[in-house]
Amino acid sequence: IHNLGEENSVLNQFISEIRDSQVQKDAMRFRRNIERIGEVLGYEFSKELEYSPAMVETPLGSKEMKLNQDQLVICSILRAGLPLHQGLLNYFDTAENGFISAFRKHEGNEDNFEVIVKYFAAPSLEGKVLILTDPMLATGRTLENVLLALKEHGTPSAIHIISVIGSQQGIEYIDKIFPEYTHLWIASVDLELNSRGYILPGIGDAGDLAFG
Ligand code: PRP
Repeated sequence: IHNLGEENSVLNQFISEIRDSQVQKDAMRFRRNIERIGEVLGYEFSKELEYSPAMVETPLGSKEMKLNQDQLVICSILRAGLPLHQGLLNYFDTAENGFISAFRKHEGNEDNFEVIVKYFAAPSLEGKVLILTDPMLATGRTLENVLLALKEHGTPSAIHIISVIGSQQGIEYIDKIFPEYTHLWIASVDLELNSRGYILPGIGDAGDLAFG
């Protein structure tokens, strides 16, 4: 796990703004901050990829540069994942893209729910680097169901999960059930999860804050 909010950087300004209930009233700023967090996490994640030498021709000569050749697939969970997706796509020009819907279906009382994955559009993942994004990792059950659904689309060479706010419990849950994922890149981790599966103090409902 790479908890990037633990380091001193401008990232913490963006995180503090998405948490702040006053600043949250500006939905455009909220979306833009999630997008900027996606850019920062994408940049940090890019350091973990493999690079090989490639020659670049300038008008005055040639220069050897180290570039990544992997085919990346960015898969996002609707709908709160959209601004995070855009932030990543700002940096990975040739990435392929997948979109997945997931929602909580409550049975009887509020505390009891299952996660339904319905819409699923993604290219083959076989041999590619999968970047799975969701701004919130609360109980981990959305990621669990999405990772299971993704298994039918081929075996990626590596799986990176990119998230903004996570609960310690959700992170441990995903670690336990999917030891094969490679890395989790996250902006901030909270210790508490209430009985309804909300992260405390968290940020509230990321989907509603971004899109109403
Ligand atoms: C939120 C969030 C995650 C999920 C995390 O989605 O965007 O997808 O909850 O919770 P979990 O780790 O406990 O599964 P939400 O249900 O609010 O949907 P929305 O983004 O469409 O509003």
